[in-house]
Amino acid sequence: NFKNLIAVPNPSHIQGVSIASLADQFGTPLYLYDGDKISSQVKILQQAFAATPLKIKYATKALSNINVLKLIRKAGAGVDAVSIEEVKLCMMAGYTAEEIMYTPSGVSFEEIQEAVAMGIMINLDSMPLMEQFGEKYGNTMPACIRINPHIMAGGNLKISTGHSESKFGISIEQLPAILAIVEKYKLQIVGLHIHTGSDILDAEVFLKGGNVLFEAAIQFSDLKFLDFGGGFKVAYKPGDIATDIMEVGKKVGEAFQAFCQRYGRQLELWLEPGKFLVSEAGYLLVKANVVKESPSVTFAGVDTGLNHLIRPMMYDAYHGLYNLSNPDGEKRKYNVVGYICETDTIAAHRELNEIKIGDLLVIKNAGAYGYSMASNYNSRLRPAEVMILDGKAHLIRKRESFEDLIRNQETLEF
Ligand code: LLP
Repeated sequence: NFKNLIAVPNPSHIQGVSIASLADQFGTPLYLYDGDKISSQVKILQQAFAATPLKIKYATKALSNINVLKLIRKAGAGVDAVSIEEVKLCMMAGYTAEEIMYTPSGVSFEEIQEAVAMGIMINLDSMPLMEQFGEKYGNTMPACIRINPHIMAGGNLKISTGHSESKFGISIEQLPAILAIVEKYKLQIVGLHIHTGSDILDAEVFLKGGNVLFEAAIQFSDLKFLDFGGGFKVAYKPGDIATDIMEVGKKVGEAFQAFCQRYGRQLELWLEPGKFLVSEAGYLLVKANVVKESPSVTFAGVDTGLNHLIRPMMYDAYHGLYNLSNPDGEKRKYNVVGYICETDTIAAHRELNEIKIGDLLVIKNAGAYGYSMASNYNSRLRPAEVMILDGKAHLIRKRESFEDLIRNQETLEF
């Protein structure tokens, strides 16, 4: 299976805009998003499932800048939100209530009520929540149920969400009890949902998940859609194989259409991709502050760290990076490290073109779970975000200021 082996490029320009010029204009560290790439990813997914009635519900949590949300809506997708704040962001970005699905995990019932009042569909994640929902709304509000399919899949355990010990969803083994609650409150269940995890390579995993959905779905009479979640694997490393989305579209689409025949009604197939739509479109542009030789390692210290991109530390994730300032330089081995008082290694023992103080480095695949997982640790400020659209760079979020950092602190007099 080499057809999806990706040669990951090291661009000096995005849509004709020089990345170095963006550092001059906006400073570093800087998050950059290729807007056209995001729109084209939506199109690719739509094409892969062209034979199936598809609804894309972008996983807002991956990258939630309002302009990115607007762009994805323009490309024809809806959204999946996981907090009431994400719901509100999506509304601000122009999504109608019908275009938003709310998939909370263990939130208060007040938050559920707030979303329902906005007309948003809830993806029910536990039986106690189904009961509360039934008590309050009976059959008046359509809802979805999140099933835990007991499938172990995904790049690592931290991002595997569909196995039997995962906190997410209601175990497929509890289906009879689920049905009893639906019956008791005459719940209007219009969708069933699974999400098995992130970084899933094989079409087989989605088919396996589909089979769990189909066997459950046959017991429900009001369904309008089945939601297969997200999790398509993108290429992070040179030589990585990404999910063959055309193969998934064909195989899952066919299995789905066959199920609809059996069900006796055409349903919609929903997907909730995050990484697939935005990972490769994002870059974190940083500057080398220090180059330090020790007897065994050469460190390149950059003006970012786990506060801006936590994936390498949290998931041991590999992010490609390159020296933008020295494209033809000699190769040397570096540990690229952050400026946070933690061991925030961004890349270990990496061959890179020789780095000098002041060089610009580009960290790739920073679109998904980059800015959205950033923090103010070490009292550092979050970077600015820039989106390139139709060959023009737009500032879509200002760099934080010291005032932003202290805004909500109260200073006691003592
Ligand atoms: N739907 C649900 C219900 C999810 O929980 C997630 C991700 C997605 C869709 C989107 O998954 P994606 O297509 O992006 O793989 N922060 C981790 C990824 C974990 C995300 C959790 N849920 C990372 O940076 O690898």
